[in-house]
Amino acid sequence: MIEKLADIKSKALDELSSLADFNELEAWRVRYLGKKSELTQILRGVASIPPEQRKAVGASANELRATLEDLYRENKDALKERAFQDVETTAKGYKDVSLPGRPIPLGRLHPITQTVNEICSIFVALGFQVVEGPEVEWDYYNFEALNIPPDHPARDMWDTLWIDTGSGQRPMLLRTHTSPMQIRVMEQTQPPVRVVVPGKVYRYEATDATHESMFYQLEGLAVDEYITFADLKGTLYEFAKRLFGEERRVRFRCDYFPFVEPGVEMAIDCFICGGQGCRLCSGTGWIEILGAGMVHPDVLRRVNYDPEVYTGFAFGLGLERIHMLRYGIEDIRLFYSNDLRFLRQF
Ligand code: PHE
Repeated sequence: MIEKLADIKSKALDELSSLADFNELEAWRVRYLGKKSELTQILRGVASIPPEQRKAVGASANELRATLEDLYRENKDALKERAFQDVETTAKGYKDVSLPGRPIPLGRLHPITQTVNEICSIFVALGFQVVEGPEVEWDYYNFEALNIPPDHPARDMWDTLWIDTGSGQRPMLLRTHTSPMQIRVMEQTQPPVRVVVPGKVYRYEATDATHESMFYQLEGLAVDEYITFADLKGTLYEFAKRLFGEERRVRFRCDYFPFVEPGVEMAIDCFICGGQGCRLCSGTGWIEILGAGMVHPDVLRRVNYDPEVYTGFAFGLGLERIHMLRYGIEDIRLFYSNDLRFLRQF
């Protein structure tokens, strides 16, 4: 019996190596693994074999069946692969140019990248340059040079992720806003300055529908002789109209940021209800979209600009929030959970 199994095996392997196509492979399977095959018969008859042989025969018959089944699967895959190639190159060696091409899936930009590009192009049209800066930042640029010394209570406005630089080393952190680039830009250039800075910022925060520990901001800075608060208002009003529609109205209210004086927050009238009050604007008719202000004279002095000669304005806005407002998205976490059903909509 054991010999017979060995025989079946060598015949099966022999035939397998000369199979040409699917049909032949299928016939091979029926011959060696089918209901009427010798192997199946042997397996069926195992019970009637004398007990002293039964175990050995049963084991090798089962082993042979597993081997043949594996071989069948492997050969089937290989034939499939070959058939696939043959469709493209015919037997004569011609390429069938009438076959449709394999579609190449078209990627797209992440919705926030699209928003960055759109907003940057608005400011470029208004005469601003686009620059970028480091996400791992010195405490000096993120806080100190922006009028926020150590232990200043204003630090509570930003929940910070610190980098362990070791004792006695200068403190580093993941920037909590894009404002440190105000300093870096002014250190390296003389007025006139007109830049916008898109980029990632980080906060040590629990995430929820309106908070992420990583999100995007866009900073703006303009410094020159004779820049006034009217320039701030005019520029940001124009921006709001270009992004949210010509009929938009804007509202400025006092706010506090240590590196500007005066500081403001800007709101636009609600583009859903037109100011009547609705869910989007929490019934107020207004939607806050950014913080801004006139660059503080101490900040100008810090980078050796003479505040008697030069003045400027700065602003910062959160880009996810802008995108959420425009498209009616209710959860910021959707941007960074890699759900293509969400991302493909933009
Ligand atoms: N950096 C501030 C923030 O993150 C926003 C801001 C930028 C305010 C520039 C005024 C001027 O909240």
